[in-house]
Order: sequence, then structure tokens, then C-alpha cells
Amino acid sequence: MEEETVTDHRNGKEESVNGEESMNEDESPLVNVDDLQKDPAFYSDAAAYWETIPATVNGMLGGLGHISTADISGSDAYLKSIFKMKNPPGHGRAVDCGAGIGRITKHLLQKHFGKVDLVEQCQNFIDKAKDNFKGSKKVTEFYCVGLQNFNPEPNTYDVIWCQWVLGHLTDTDLEDFFRRMAQGLKPNGVIVVKENVTSSGEVEFDKVDSSVTRPESEILDIVERAELKVLKNTKQPNFPKGLYEVKMFCFKPKHTHT
Ligand SMILES: C[S@@+](CC[C@H](N)C(=O)[O-])C[C@H]1O[C@@H](n2cnc3c(N)ncnc32)[C@H](O)[C@@H]1O
Repeated sequence: MEEETVTDHRNGKEESVNGEESMNEDESPLVNVDDLQKDPAFYSDAAAYWETIPATVNGMLGGLGHISTADISGSDAYLKSIFKMKNPPGHGRAVDCGAGIGRITKHLLQKHFGKVDLVEQCQNFIDKAKDNFKGSKKVTEFYCVGLQNFNPEPNTYDVIWCQWVLGHLTDTDLEDFFRRMAQGLKPNGVIVVKENVTSSGEVEFDKVDSSVTRPESEILDIVERAELKVLKNTKQPNFPKGLYEVKMFCFKPKHTHT
């Protein structure tokens, strides 16, 4: 996947398609999240936004393609630490949620799992991902669907990886999403969430890509409501200053399902 400089056609800034706004704490206004999330435009605006974004690593990371290496190396260390836990997940099958063009699958997940599925709502990105994994025996399932509607078969995944996408779900849909994902896990399976968190203690809205950034406490409240248990809670190291803090969480269902 090639890297490129992306010019933001809305404000003329270089390397700022979406993520500079959504990743830069200084620029996000506070909003009434309940009202915002009741508006169907919350989803349709996000879908329309991503339709305009180039299917490249730089596009996936809002012009911050240069942080991809540090991101993947932090995730690799994290995933290895998950495999060292007592009762670790297996290496059989993972799913990359909000996968974009498959950046994480390509550089991380396919190295650790026998099979990796992709879920992504933007058709352009799915097409690019199919191209990127042409001929792959591991990466063969591409689901073009919003995570708010993704419903995996029970007992399917060892690891469900969700990165830089959950801010596109409303609180209610995120709780329901976690509950469905819990059903989709194999025994010892885990859900990994890697997301920006605010330091203001408030939920912040990015109107450019129609996403929210939650404080850690809000993410953990939703996780608690979804009856998940926190196994790990770690900060991503080695990211440039001026961005939101990025946290990696590992969750499993509080109650084992049958
Ligand atoms: C910031 S990019 C991150 C892509 C990928 N996770 C990565 O880190 O390379 C956000 C991705 O989420 C996708 N997305 C946005 N809303 C979504 C939704 N409701 N369901 C599934 N994917 C969504 C976008 O199309 C885009 O591919």
C-alpha cells in the first residue's frame, strides 16, 4: 500500500483529510452527544465523508500515514502480550472491524492468525482491500456493512479487532455491537479496542467525519453496560505530541455463553 500526501479539499491544508481534525485535541468542539447521536445524519454524514477519501494508508489515517509503523509496532507488542495471558485466545481466526483498505490486517493480523475477515462499510475501501489480498488464502471474507449492522455467527472469532472506528457508532449501537461481538467469540476469545481518548473528560464531536471521541471513562462505562470485563488497558507509546492519547483495551465477556 503506497503512502502519499493528501490535500484536504475543504480547507487546503496538506496532510489533513480527516484525521488531523479528529486526532488533534485542540480543534474539536464540545456538543450534546445525545442529540447528535439521535440524528440519522450522524451515520449518513460519516458514510458520505469516507466516500471522498482516497483508498490509501494516508487516507485511512487522515494524512498521518507516517504514524502507521509506530501504530503497528505498538499493536504487535500488545497482541503478543495478549497471547501470553492465562487462557489466551487462539490463533485461528480474527476479524478487522472498520478495516478500511486492510492496513491492520496486512501488517499485523495476518501474521498472527490463520484466517482474517474484514468488515468495512465503504465499498471503495472493500474493493481496494480485495485487490490488496488477491490470491491470499488467509484473507477471503470481506463484509461491506456498517458495524452497527454486523452480526457474526456465534463462536467464530479468537480476536475481534476494532481500531479508529468505534467513534462512528452511537452509544446505544456501541453497547449492542459489543454484545453481538461477545456472542461471536470463541472460548477464550477477546475483543481488542484501539481508539483515541479525550483528556477533557468530555465526548468531543468532529463534524468533518461525523465521529465522536470519547474519554476513556465513557468507553469503559459502555463496556460495563455490555457486560464485558477489562483484561488489559494500555497506552500506545511513541506517537507524536499534539494528538489525542491512544488507548488499547482488551475485553472478554463477563459471562461465558453457550
Ligand atoms: C480512520 S479509518 C481507520 C481504518 C482502519 N481501522 C485503520 O486503522 O487503518 C475509519 C474507517 O472506519 C470506516 N467506518 C466509518 N463508519 C463505519 C461504520 N459505521 N461501520 C464500519 N466501518 C465504518 C471508514 O469507512 C474507514 O474505513
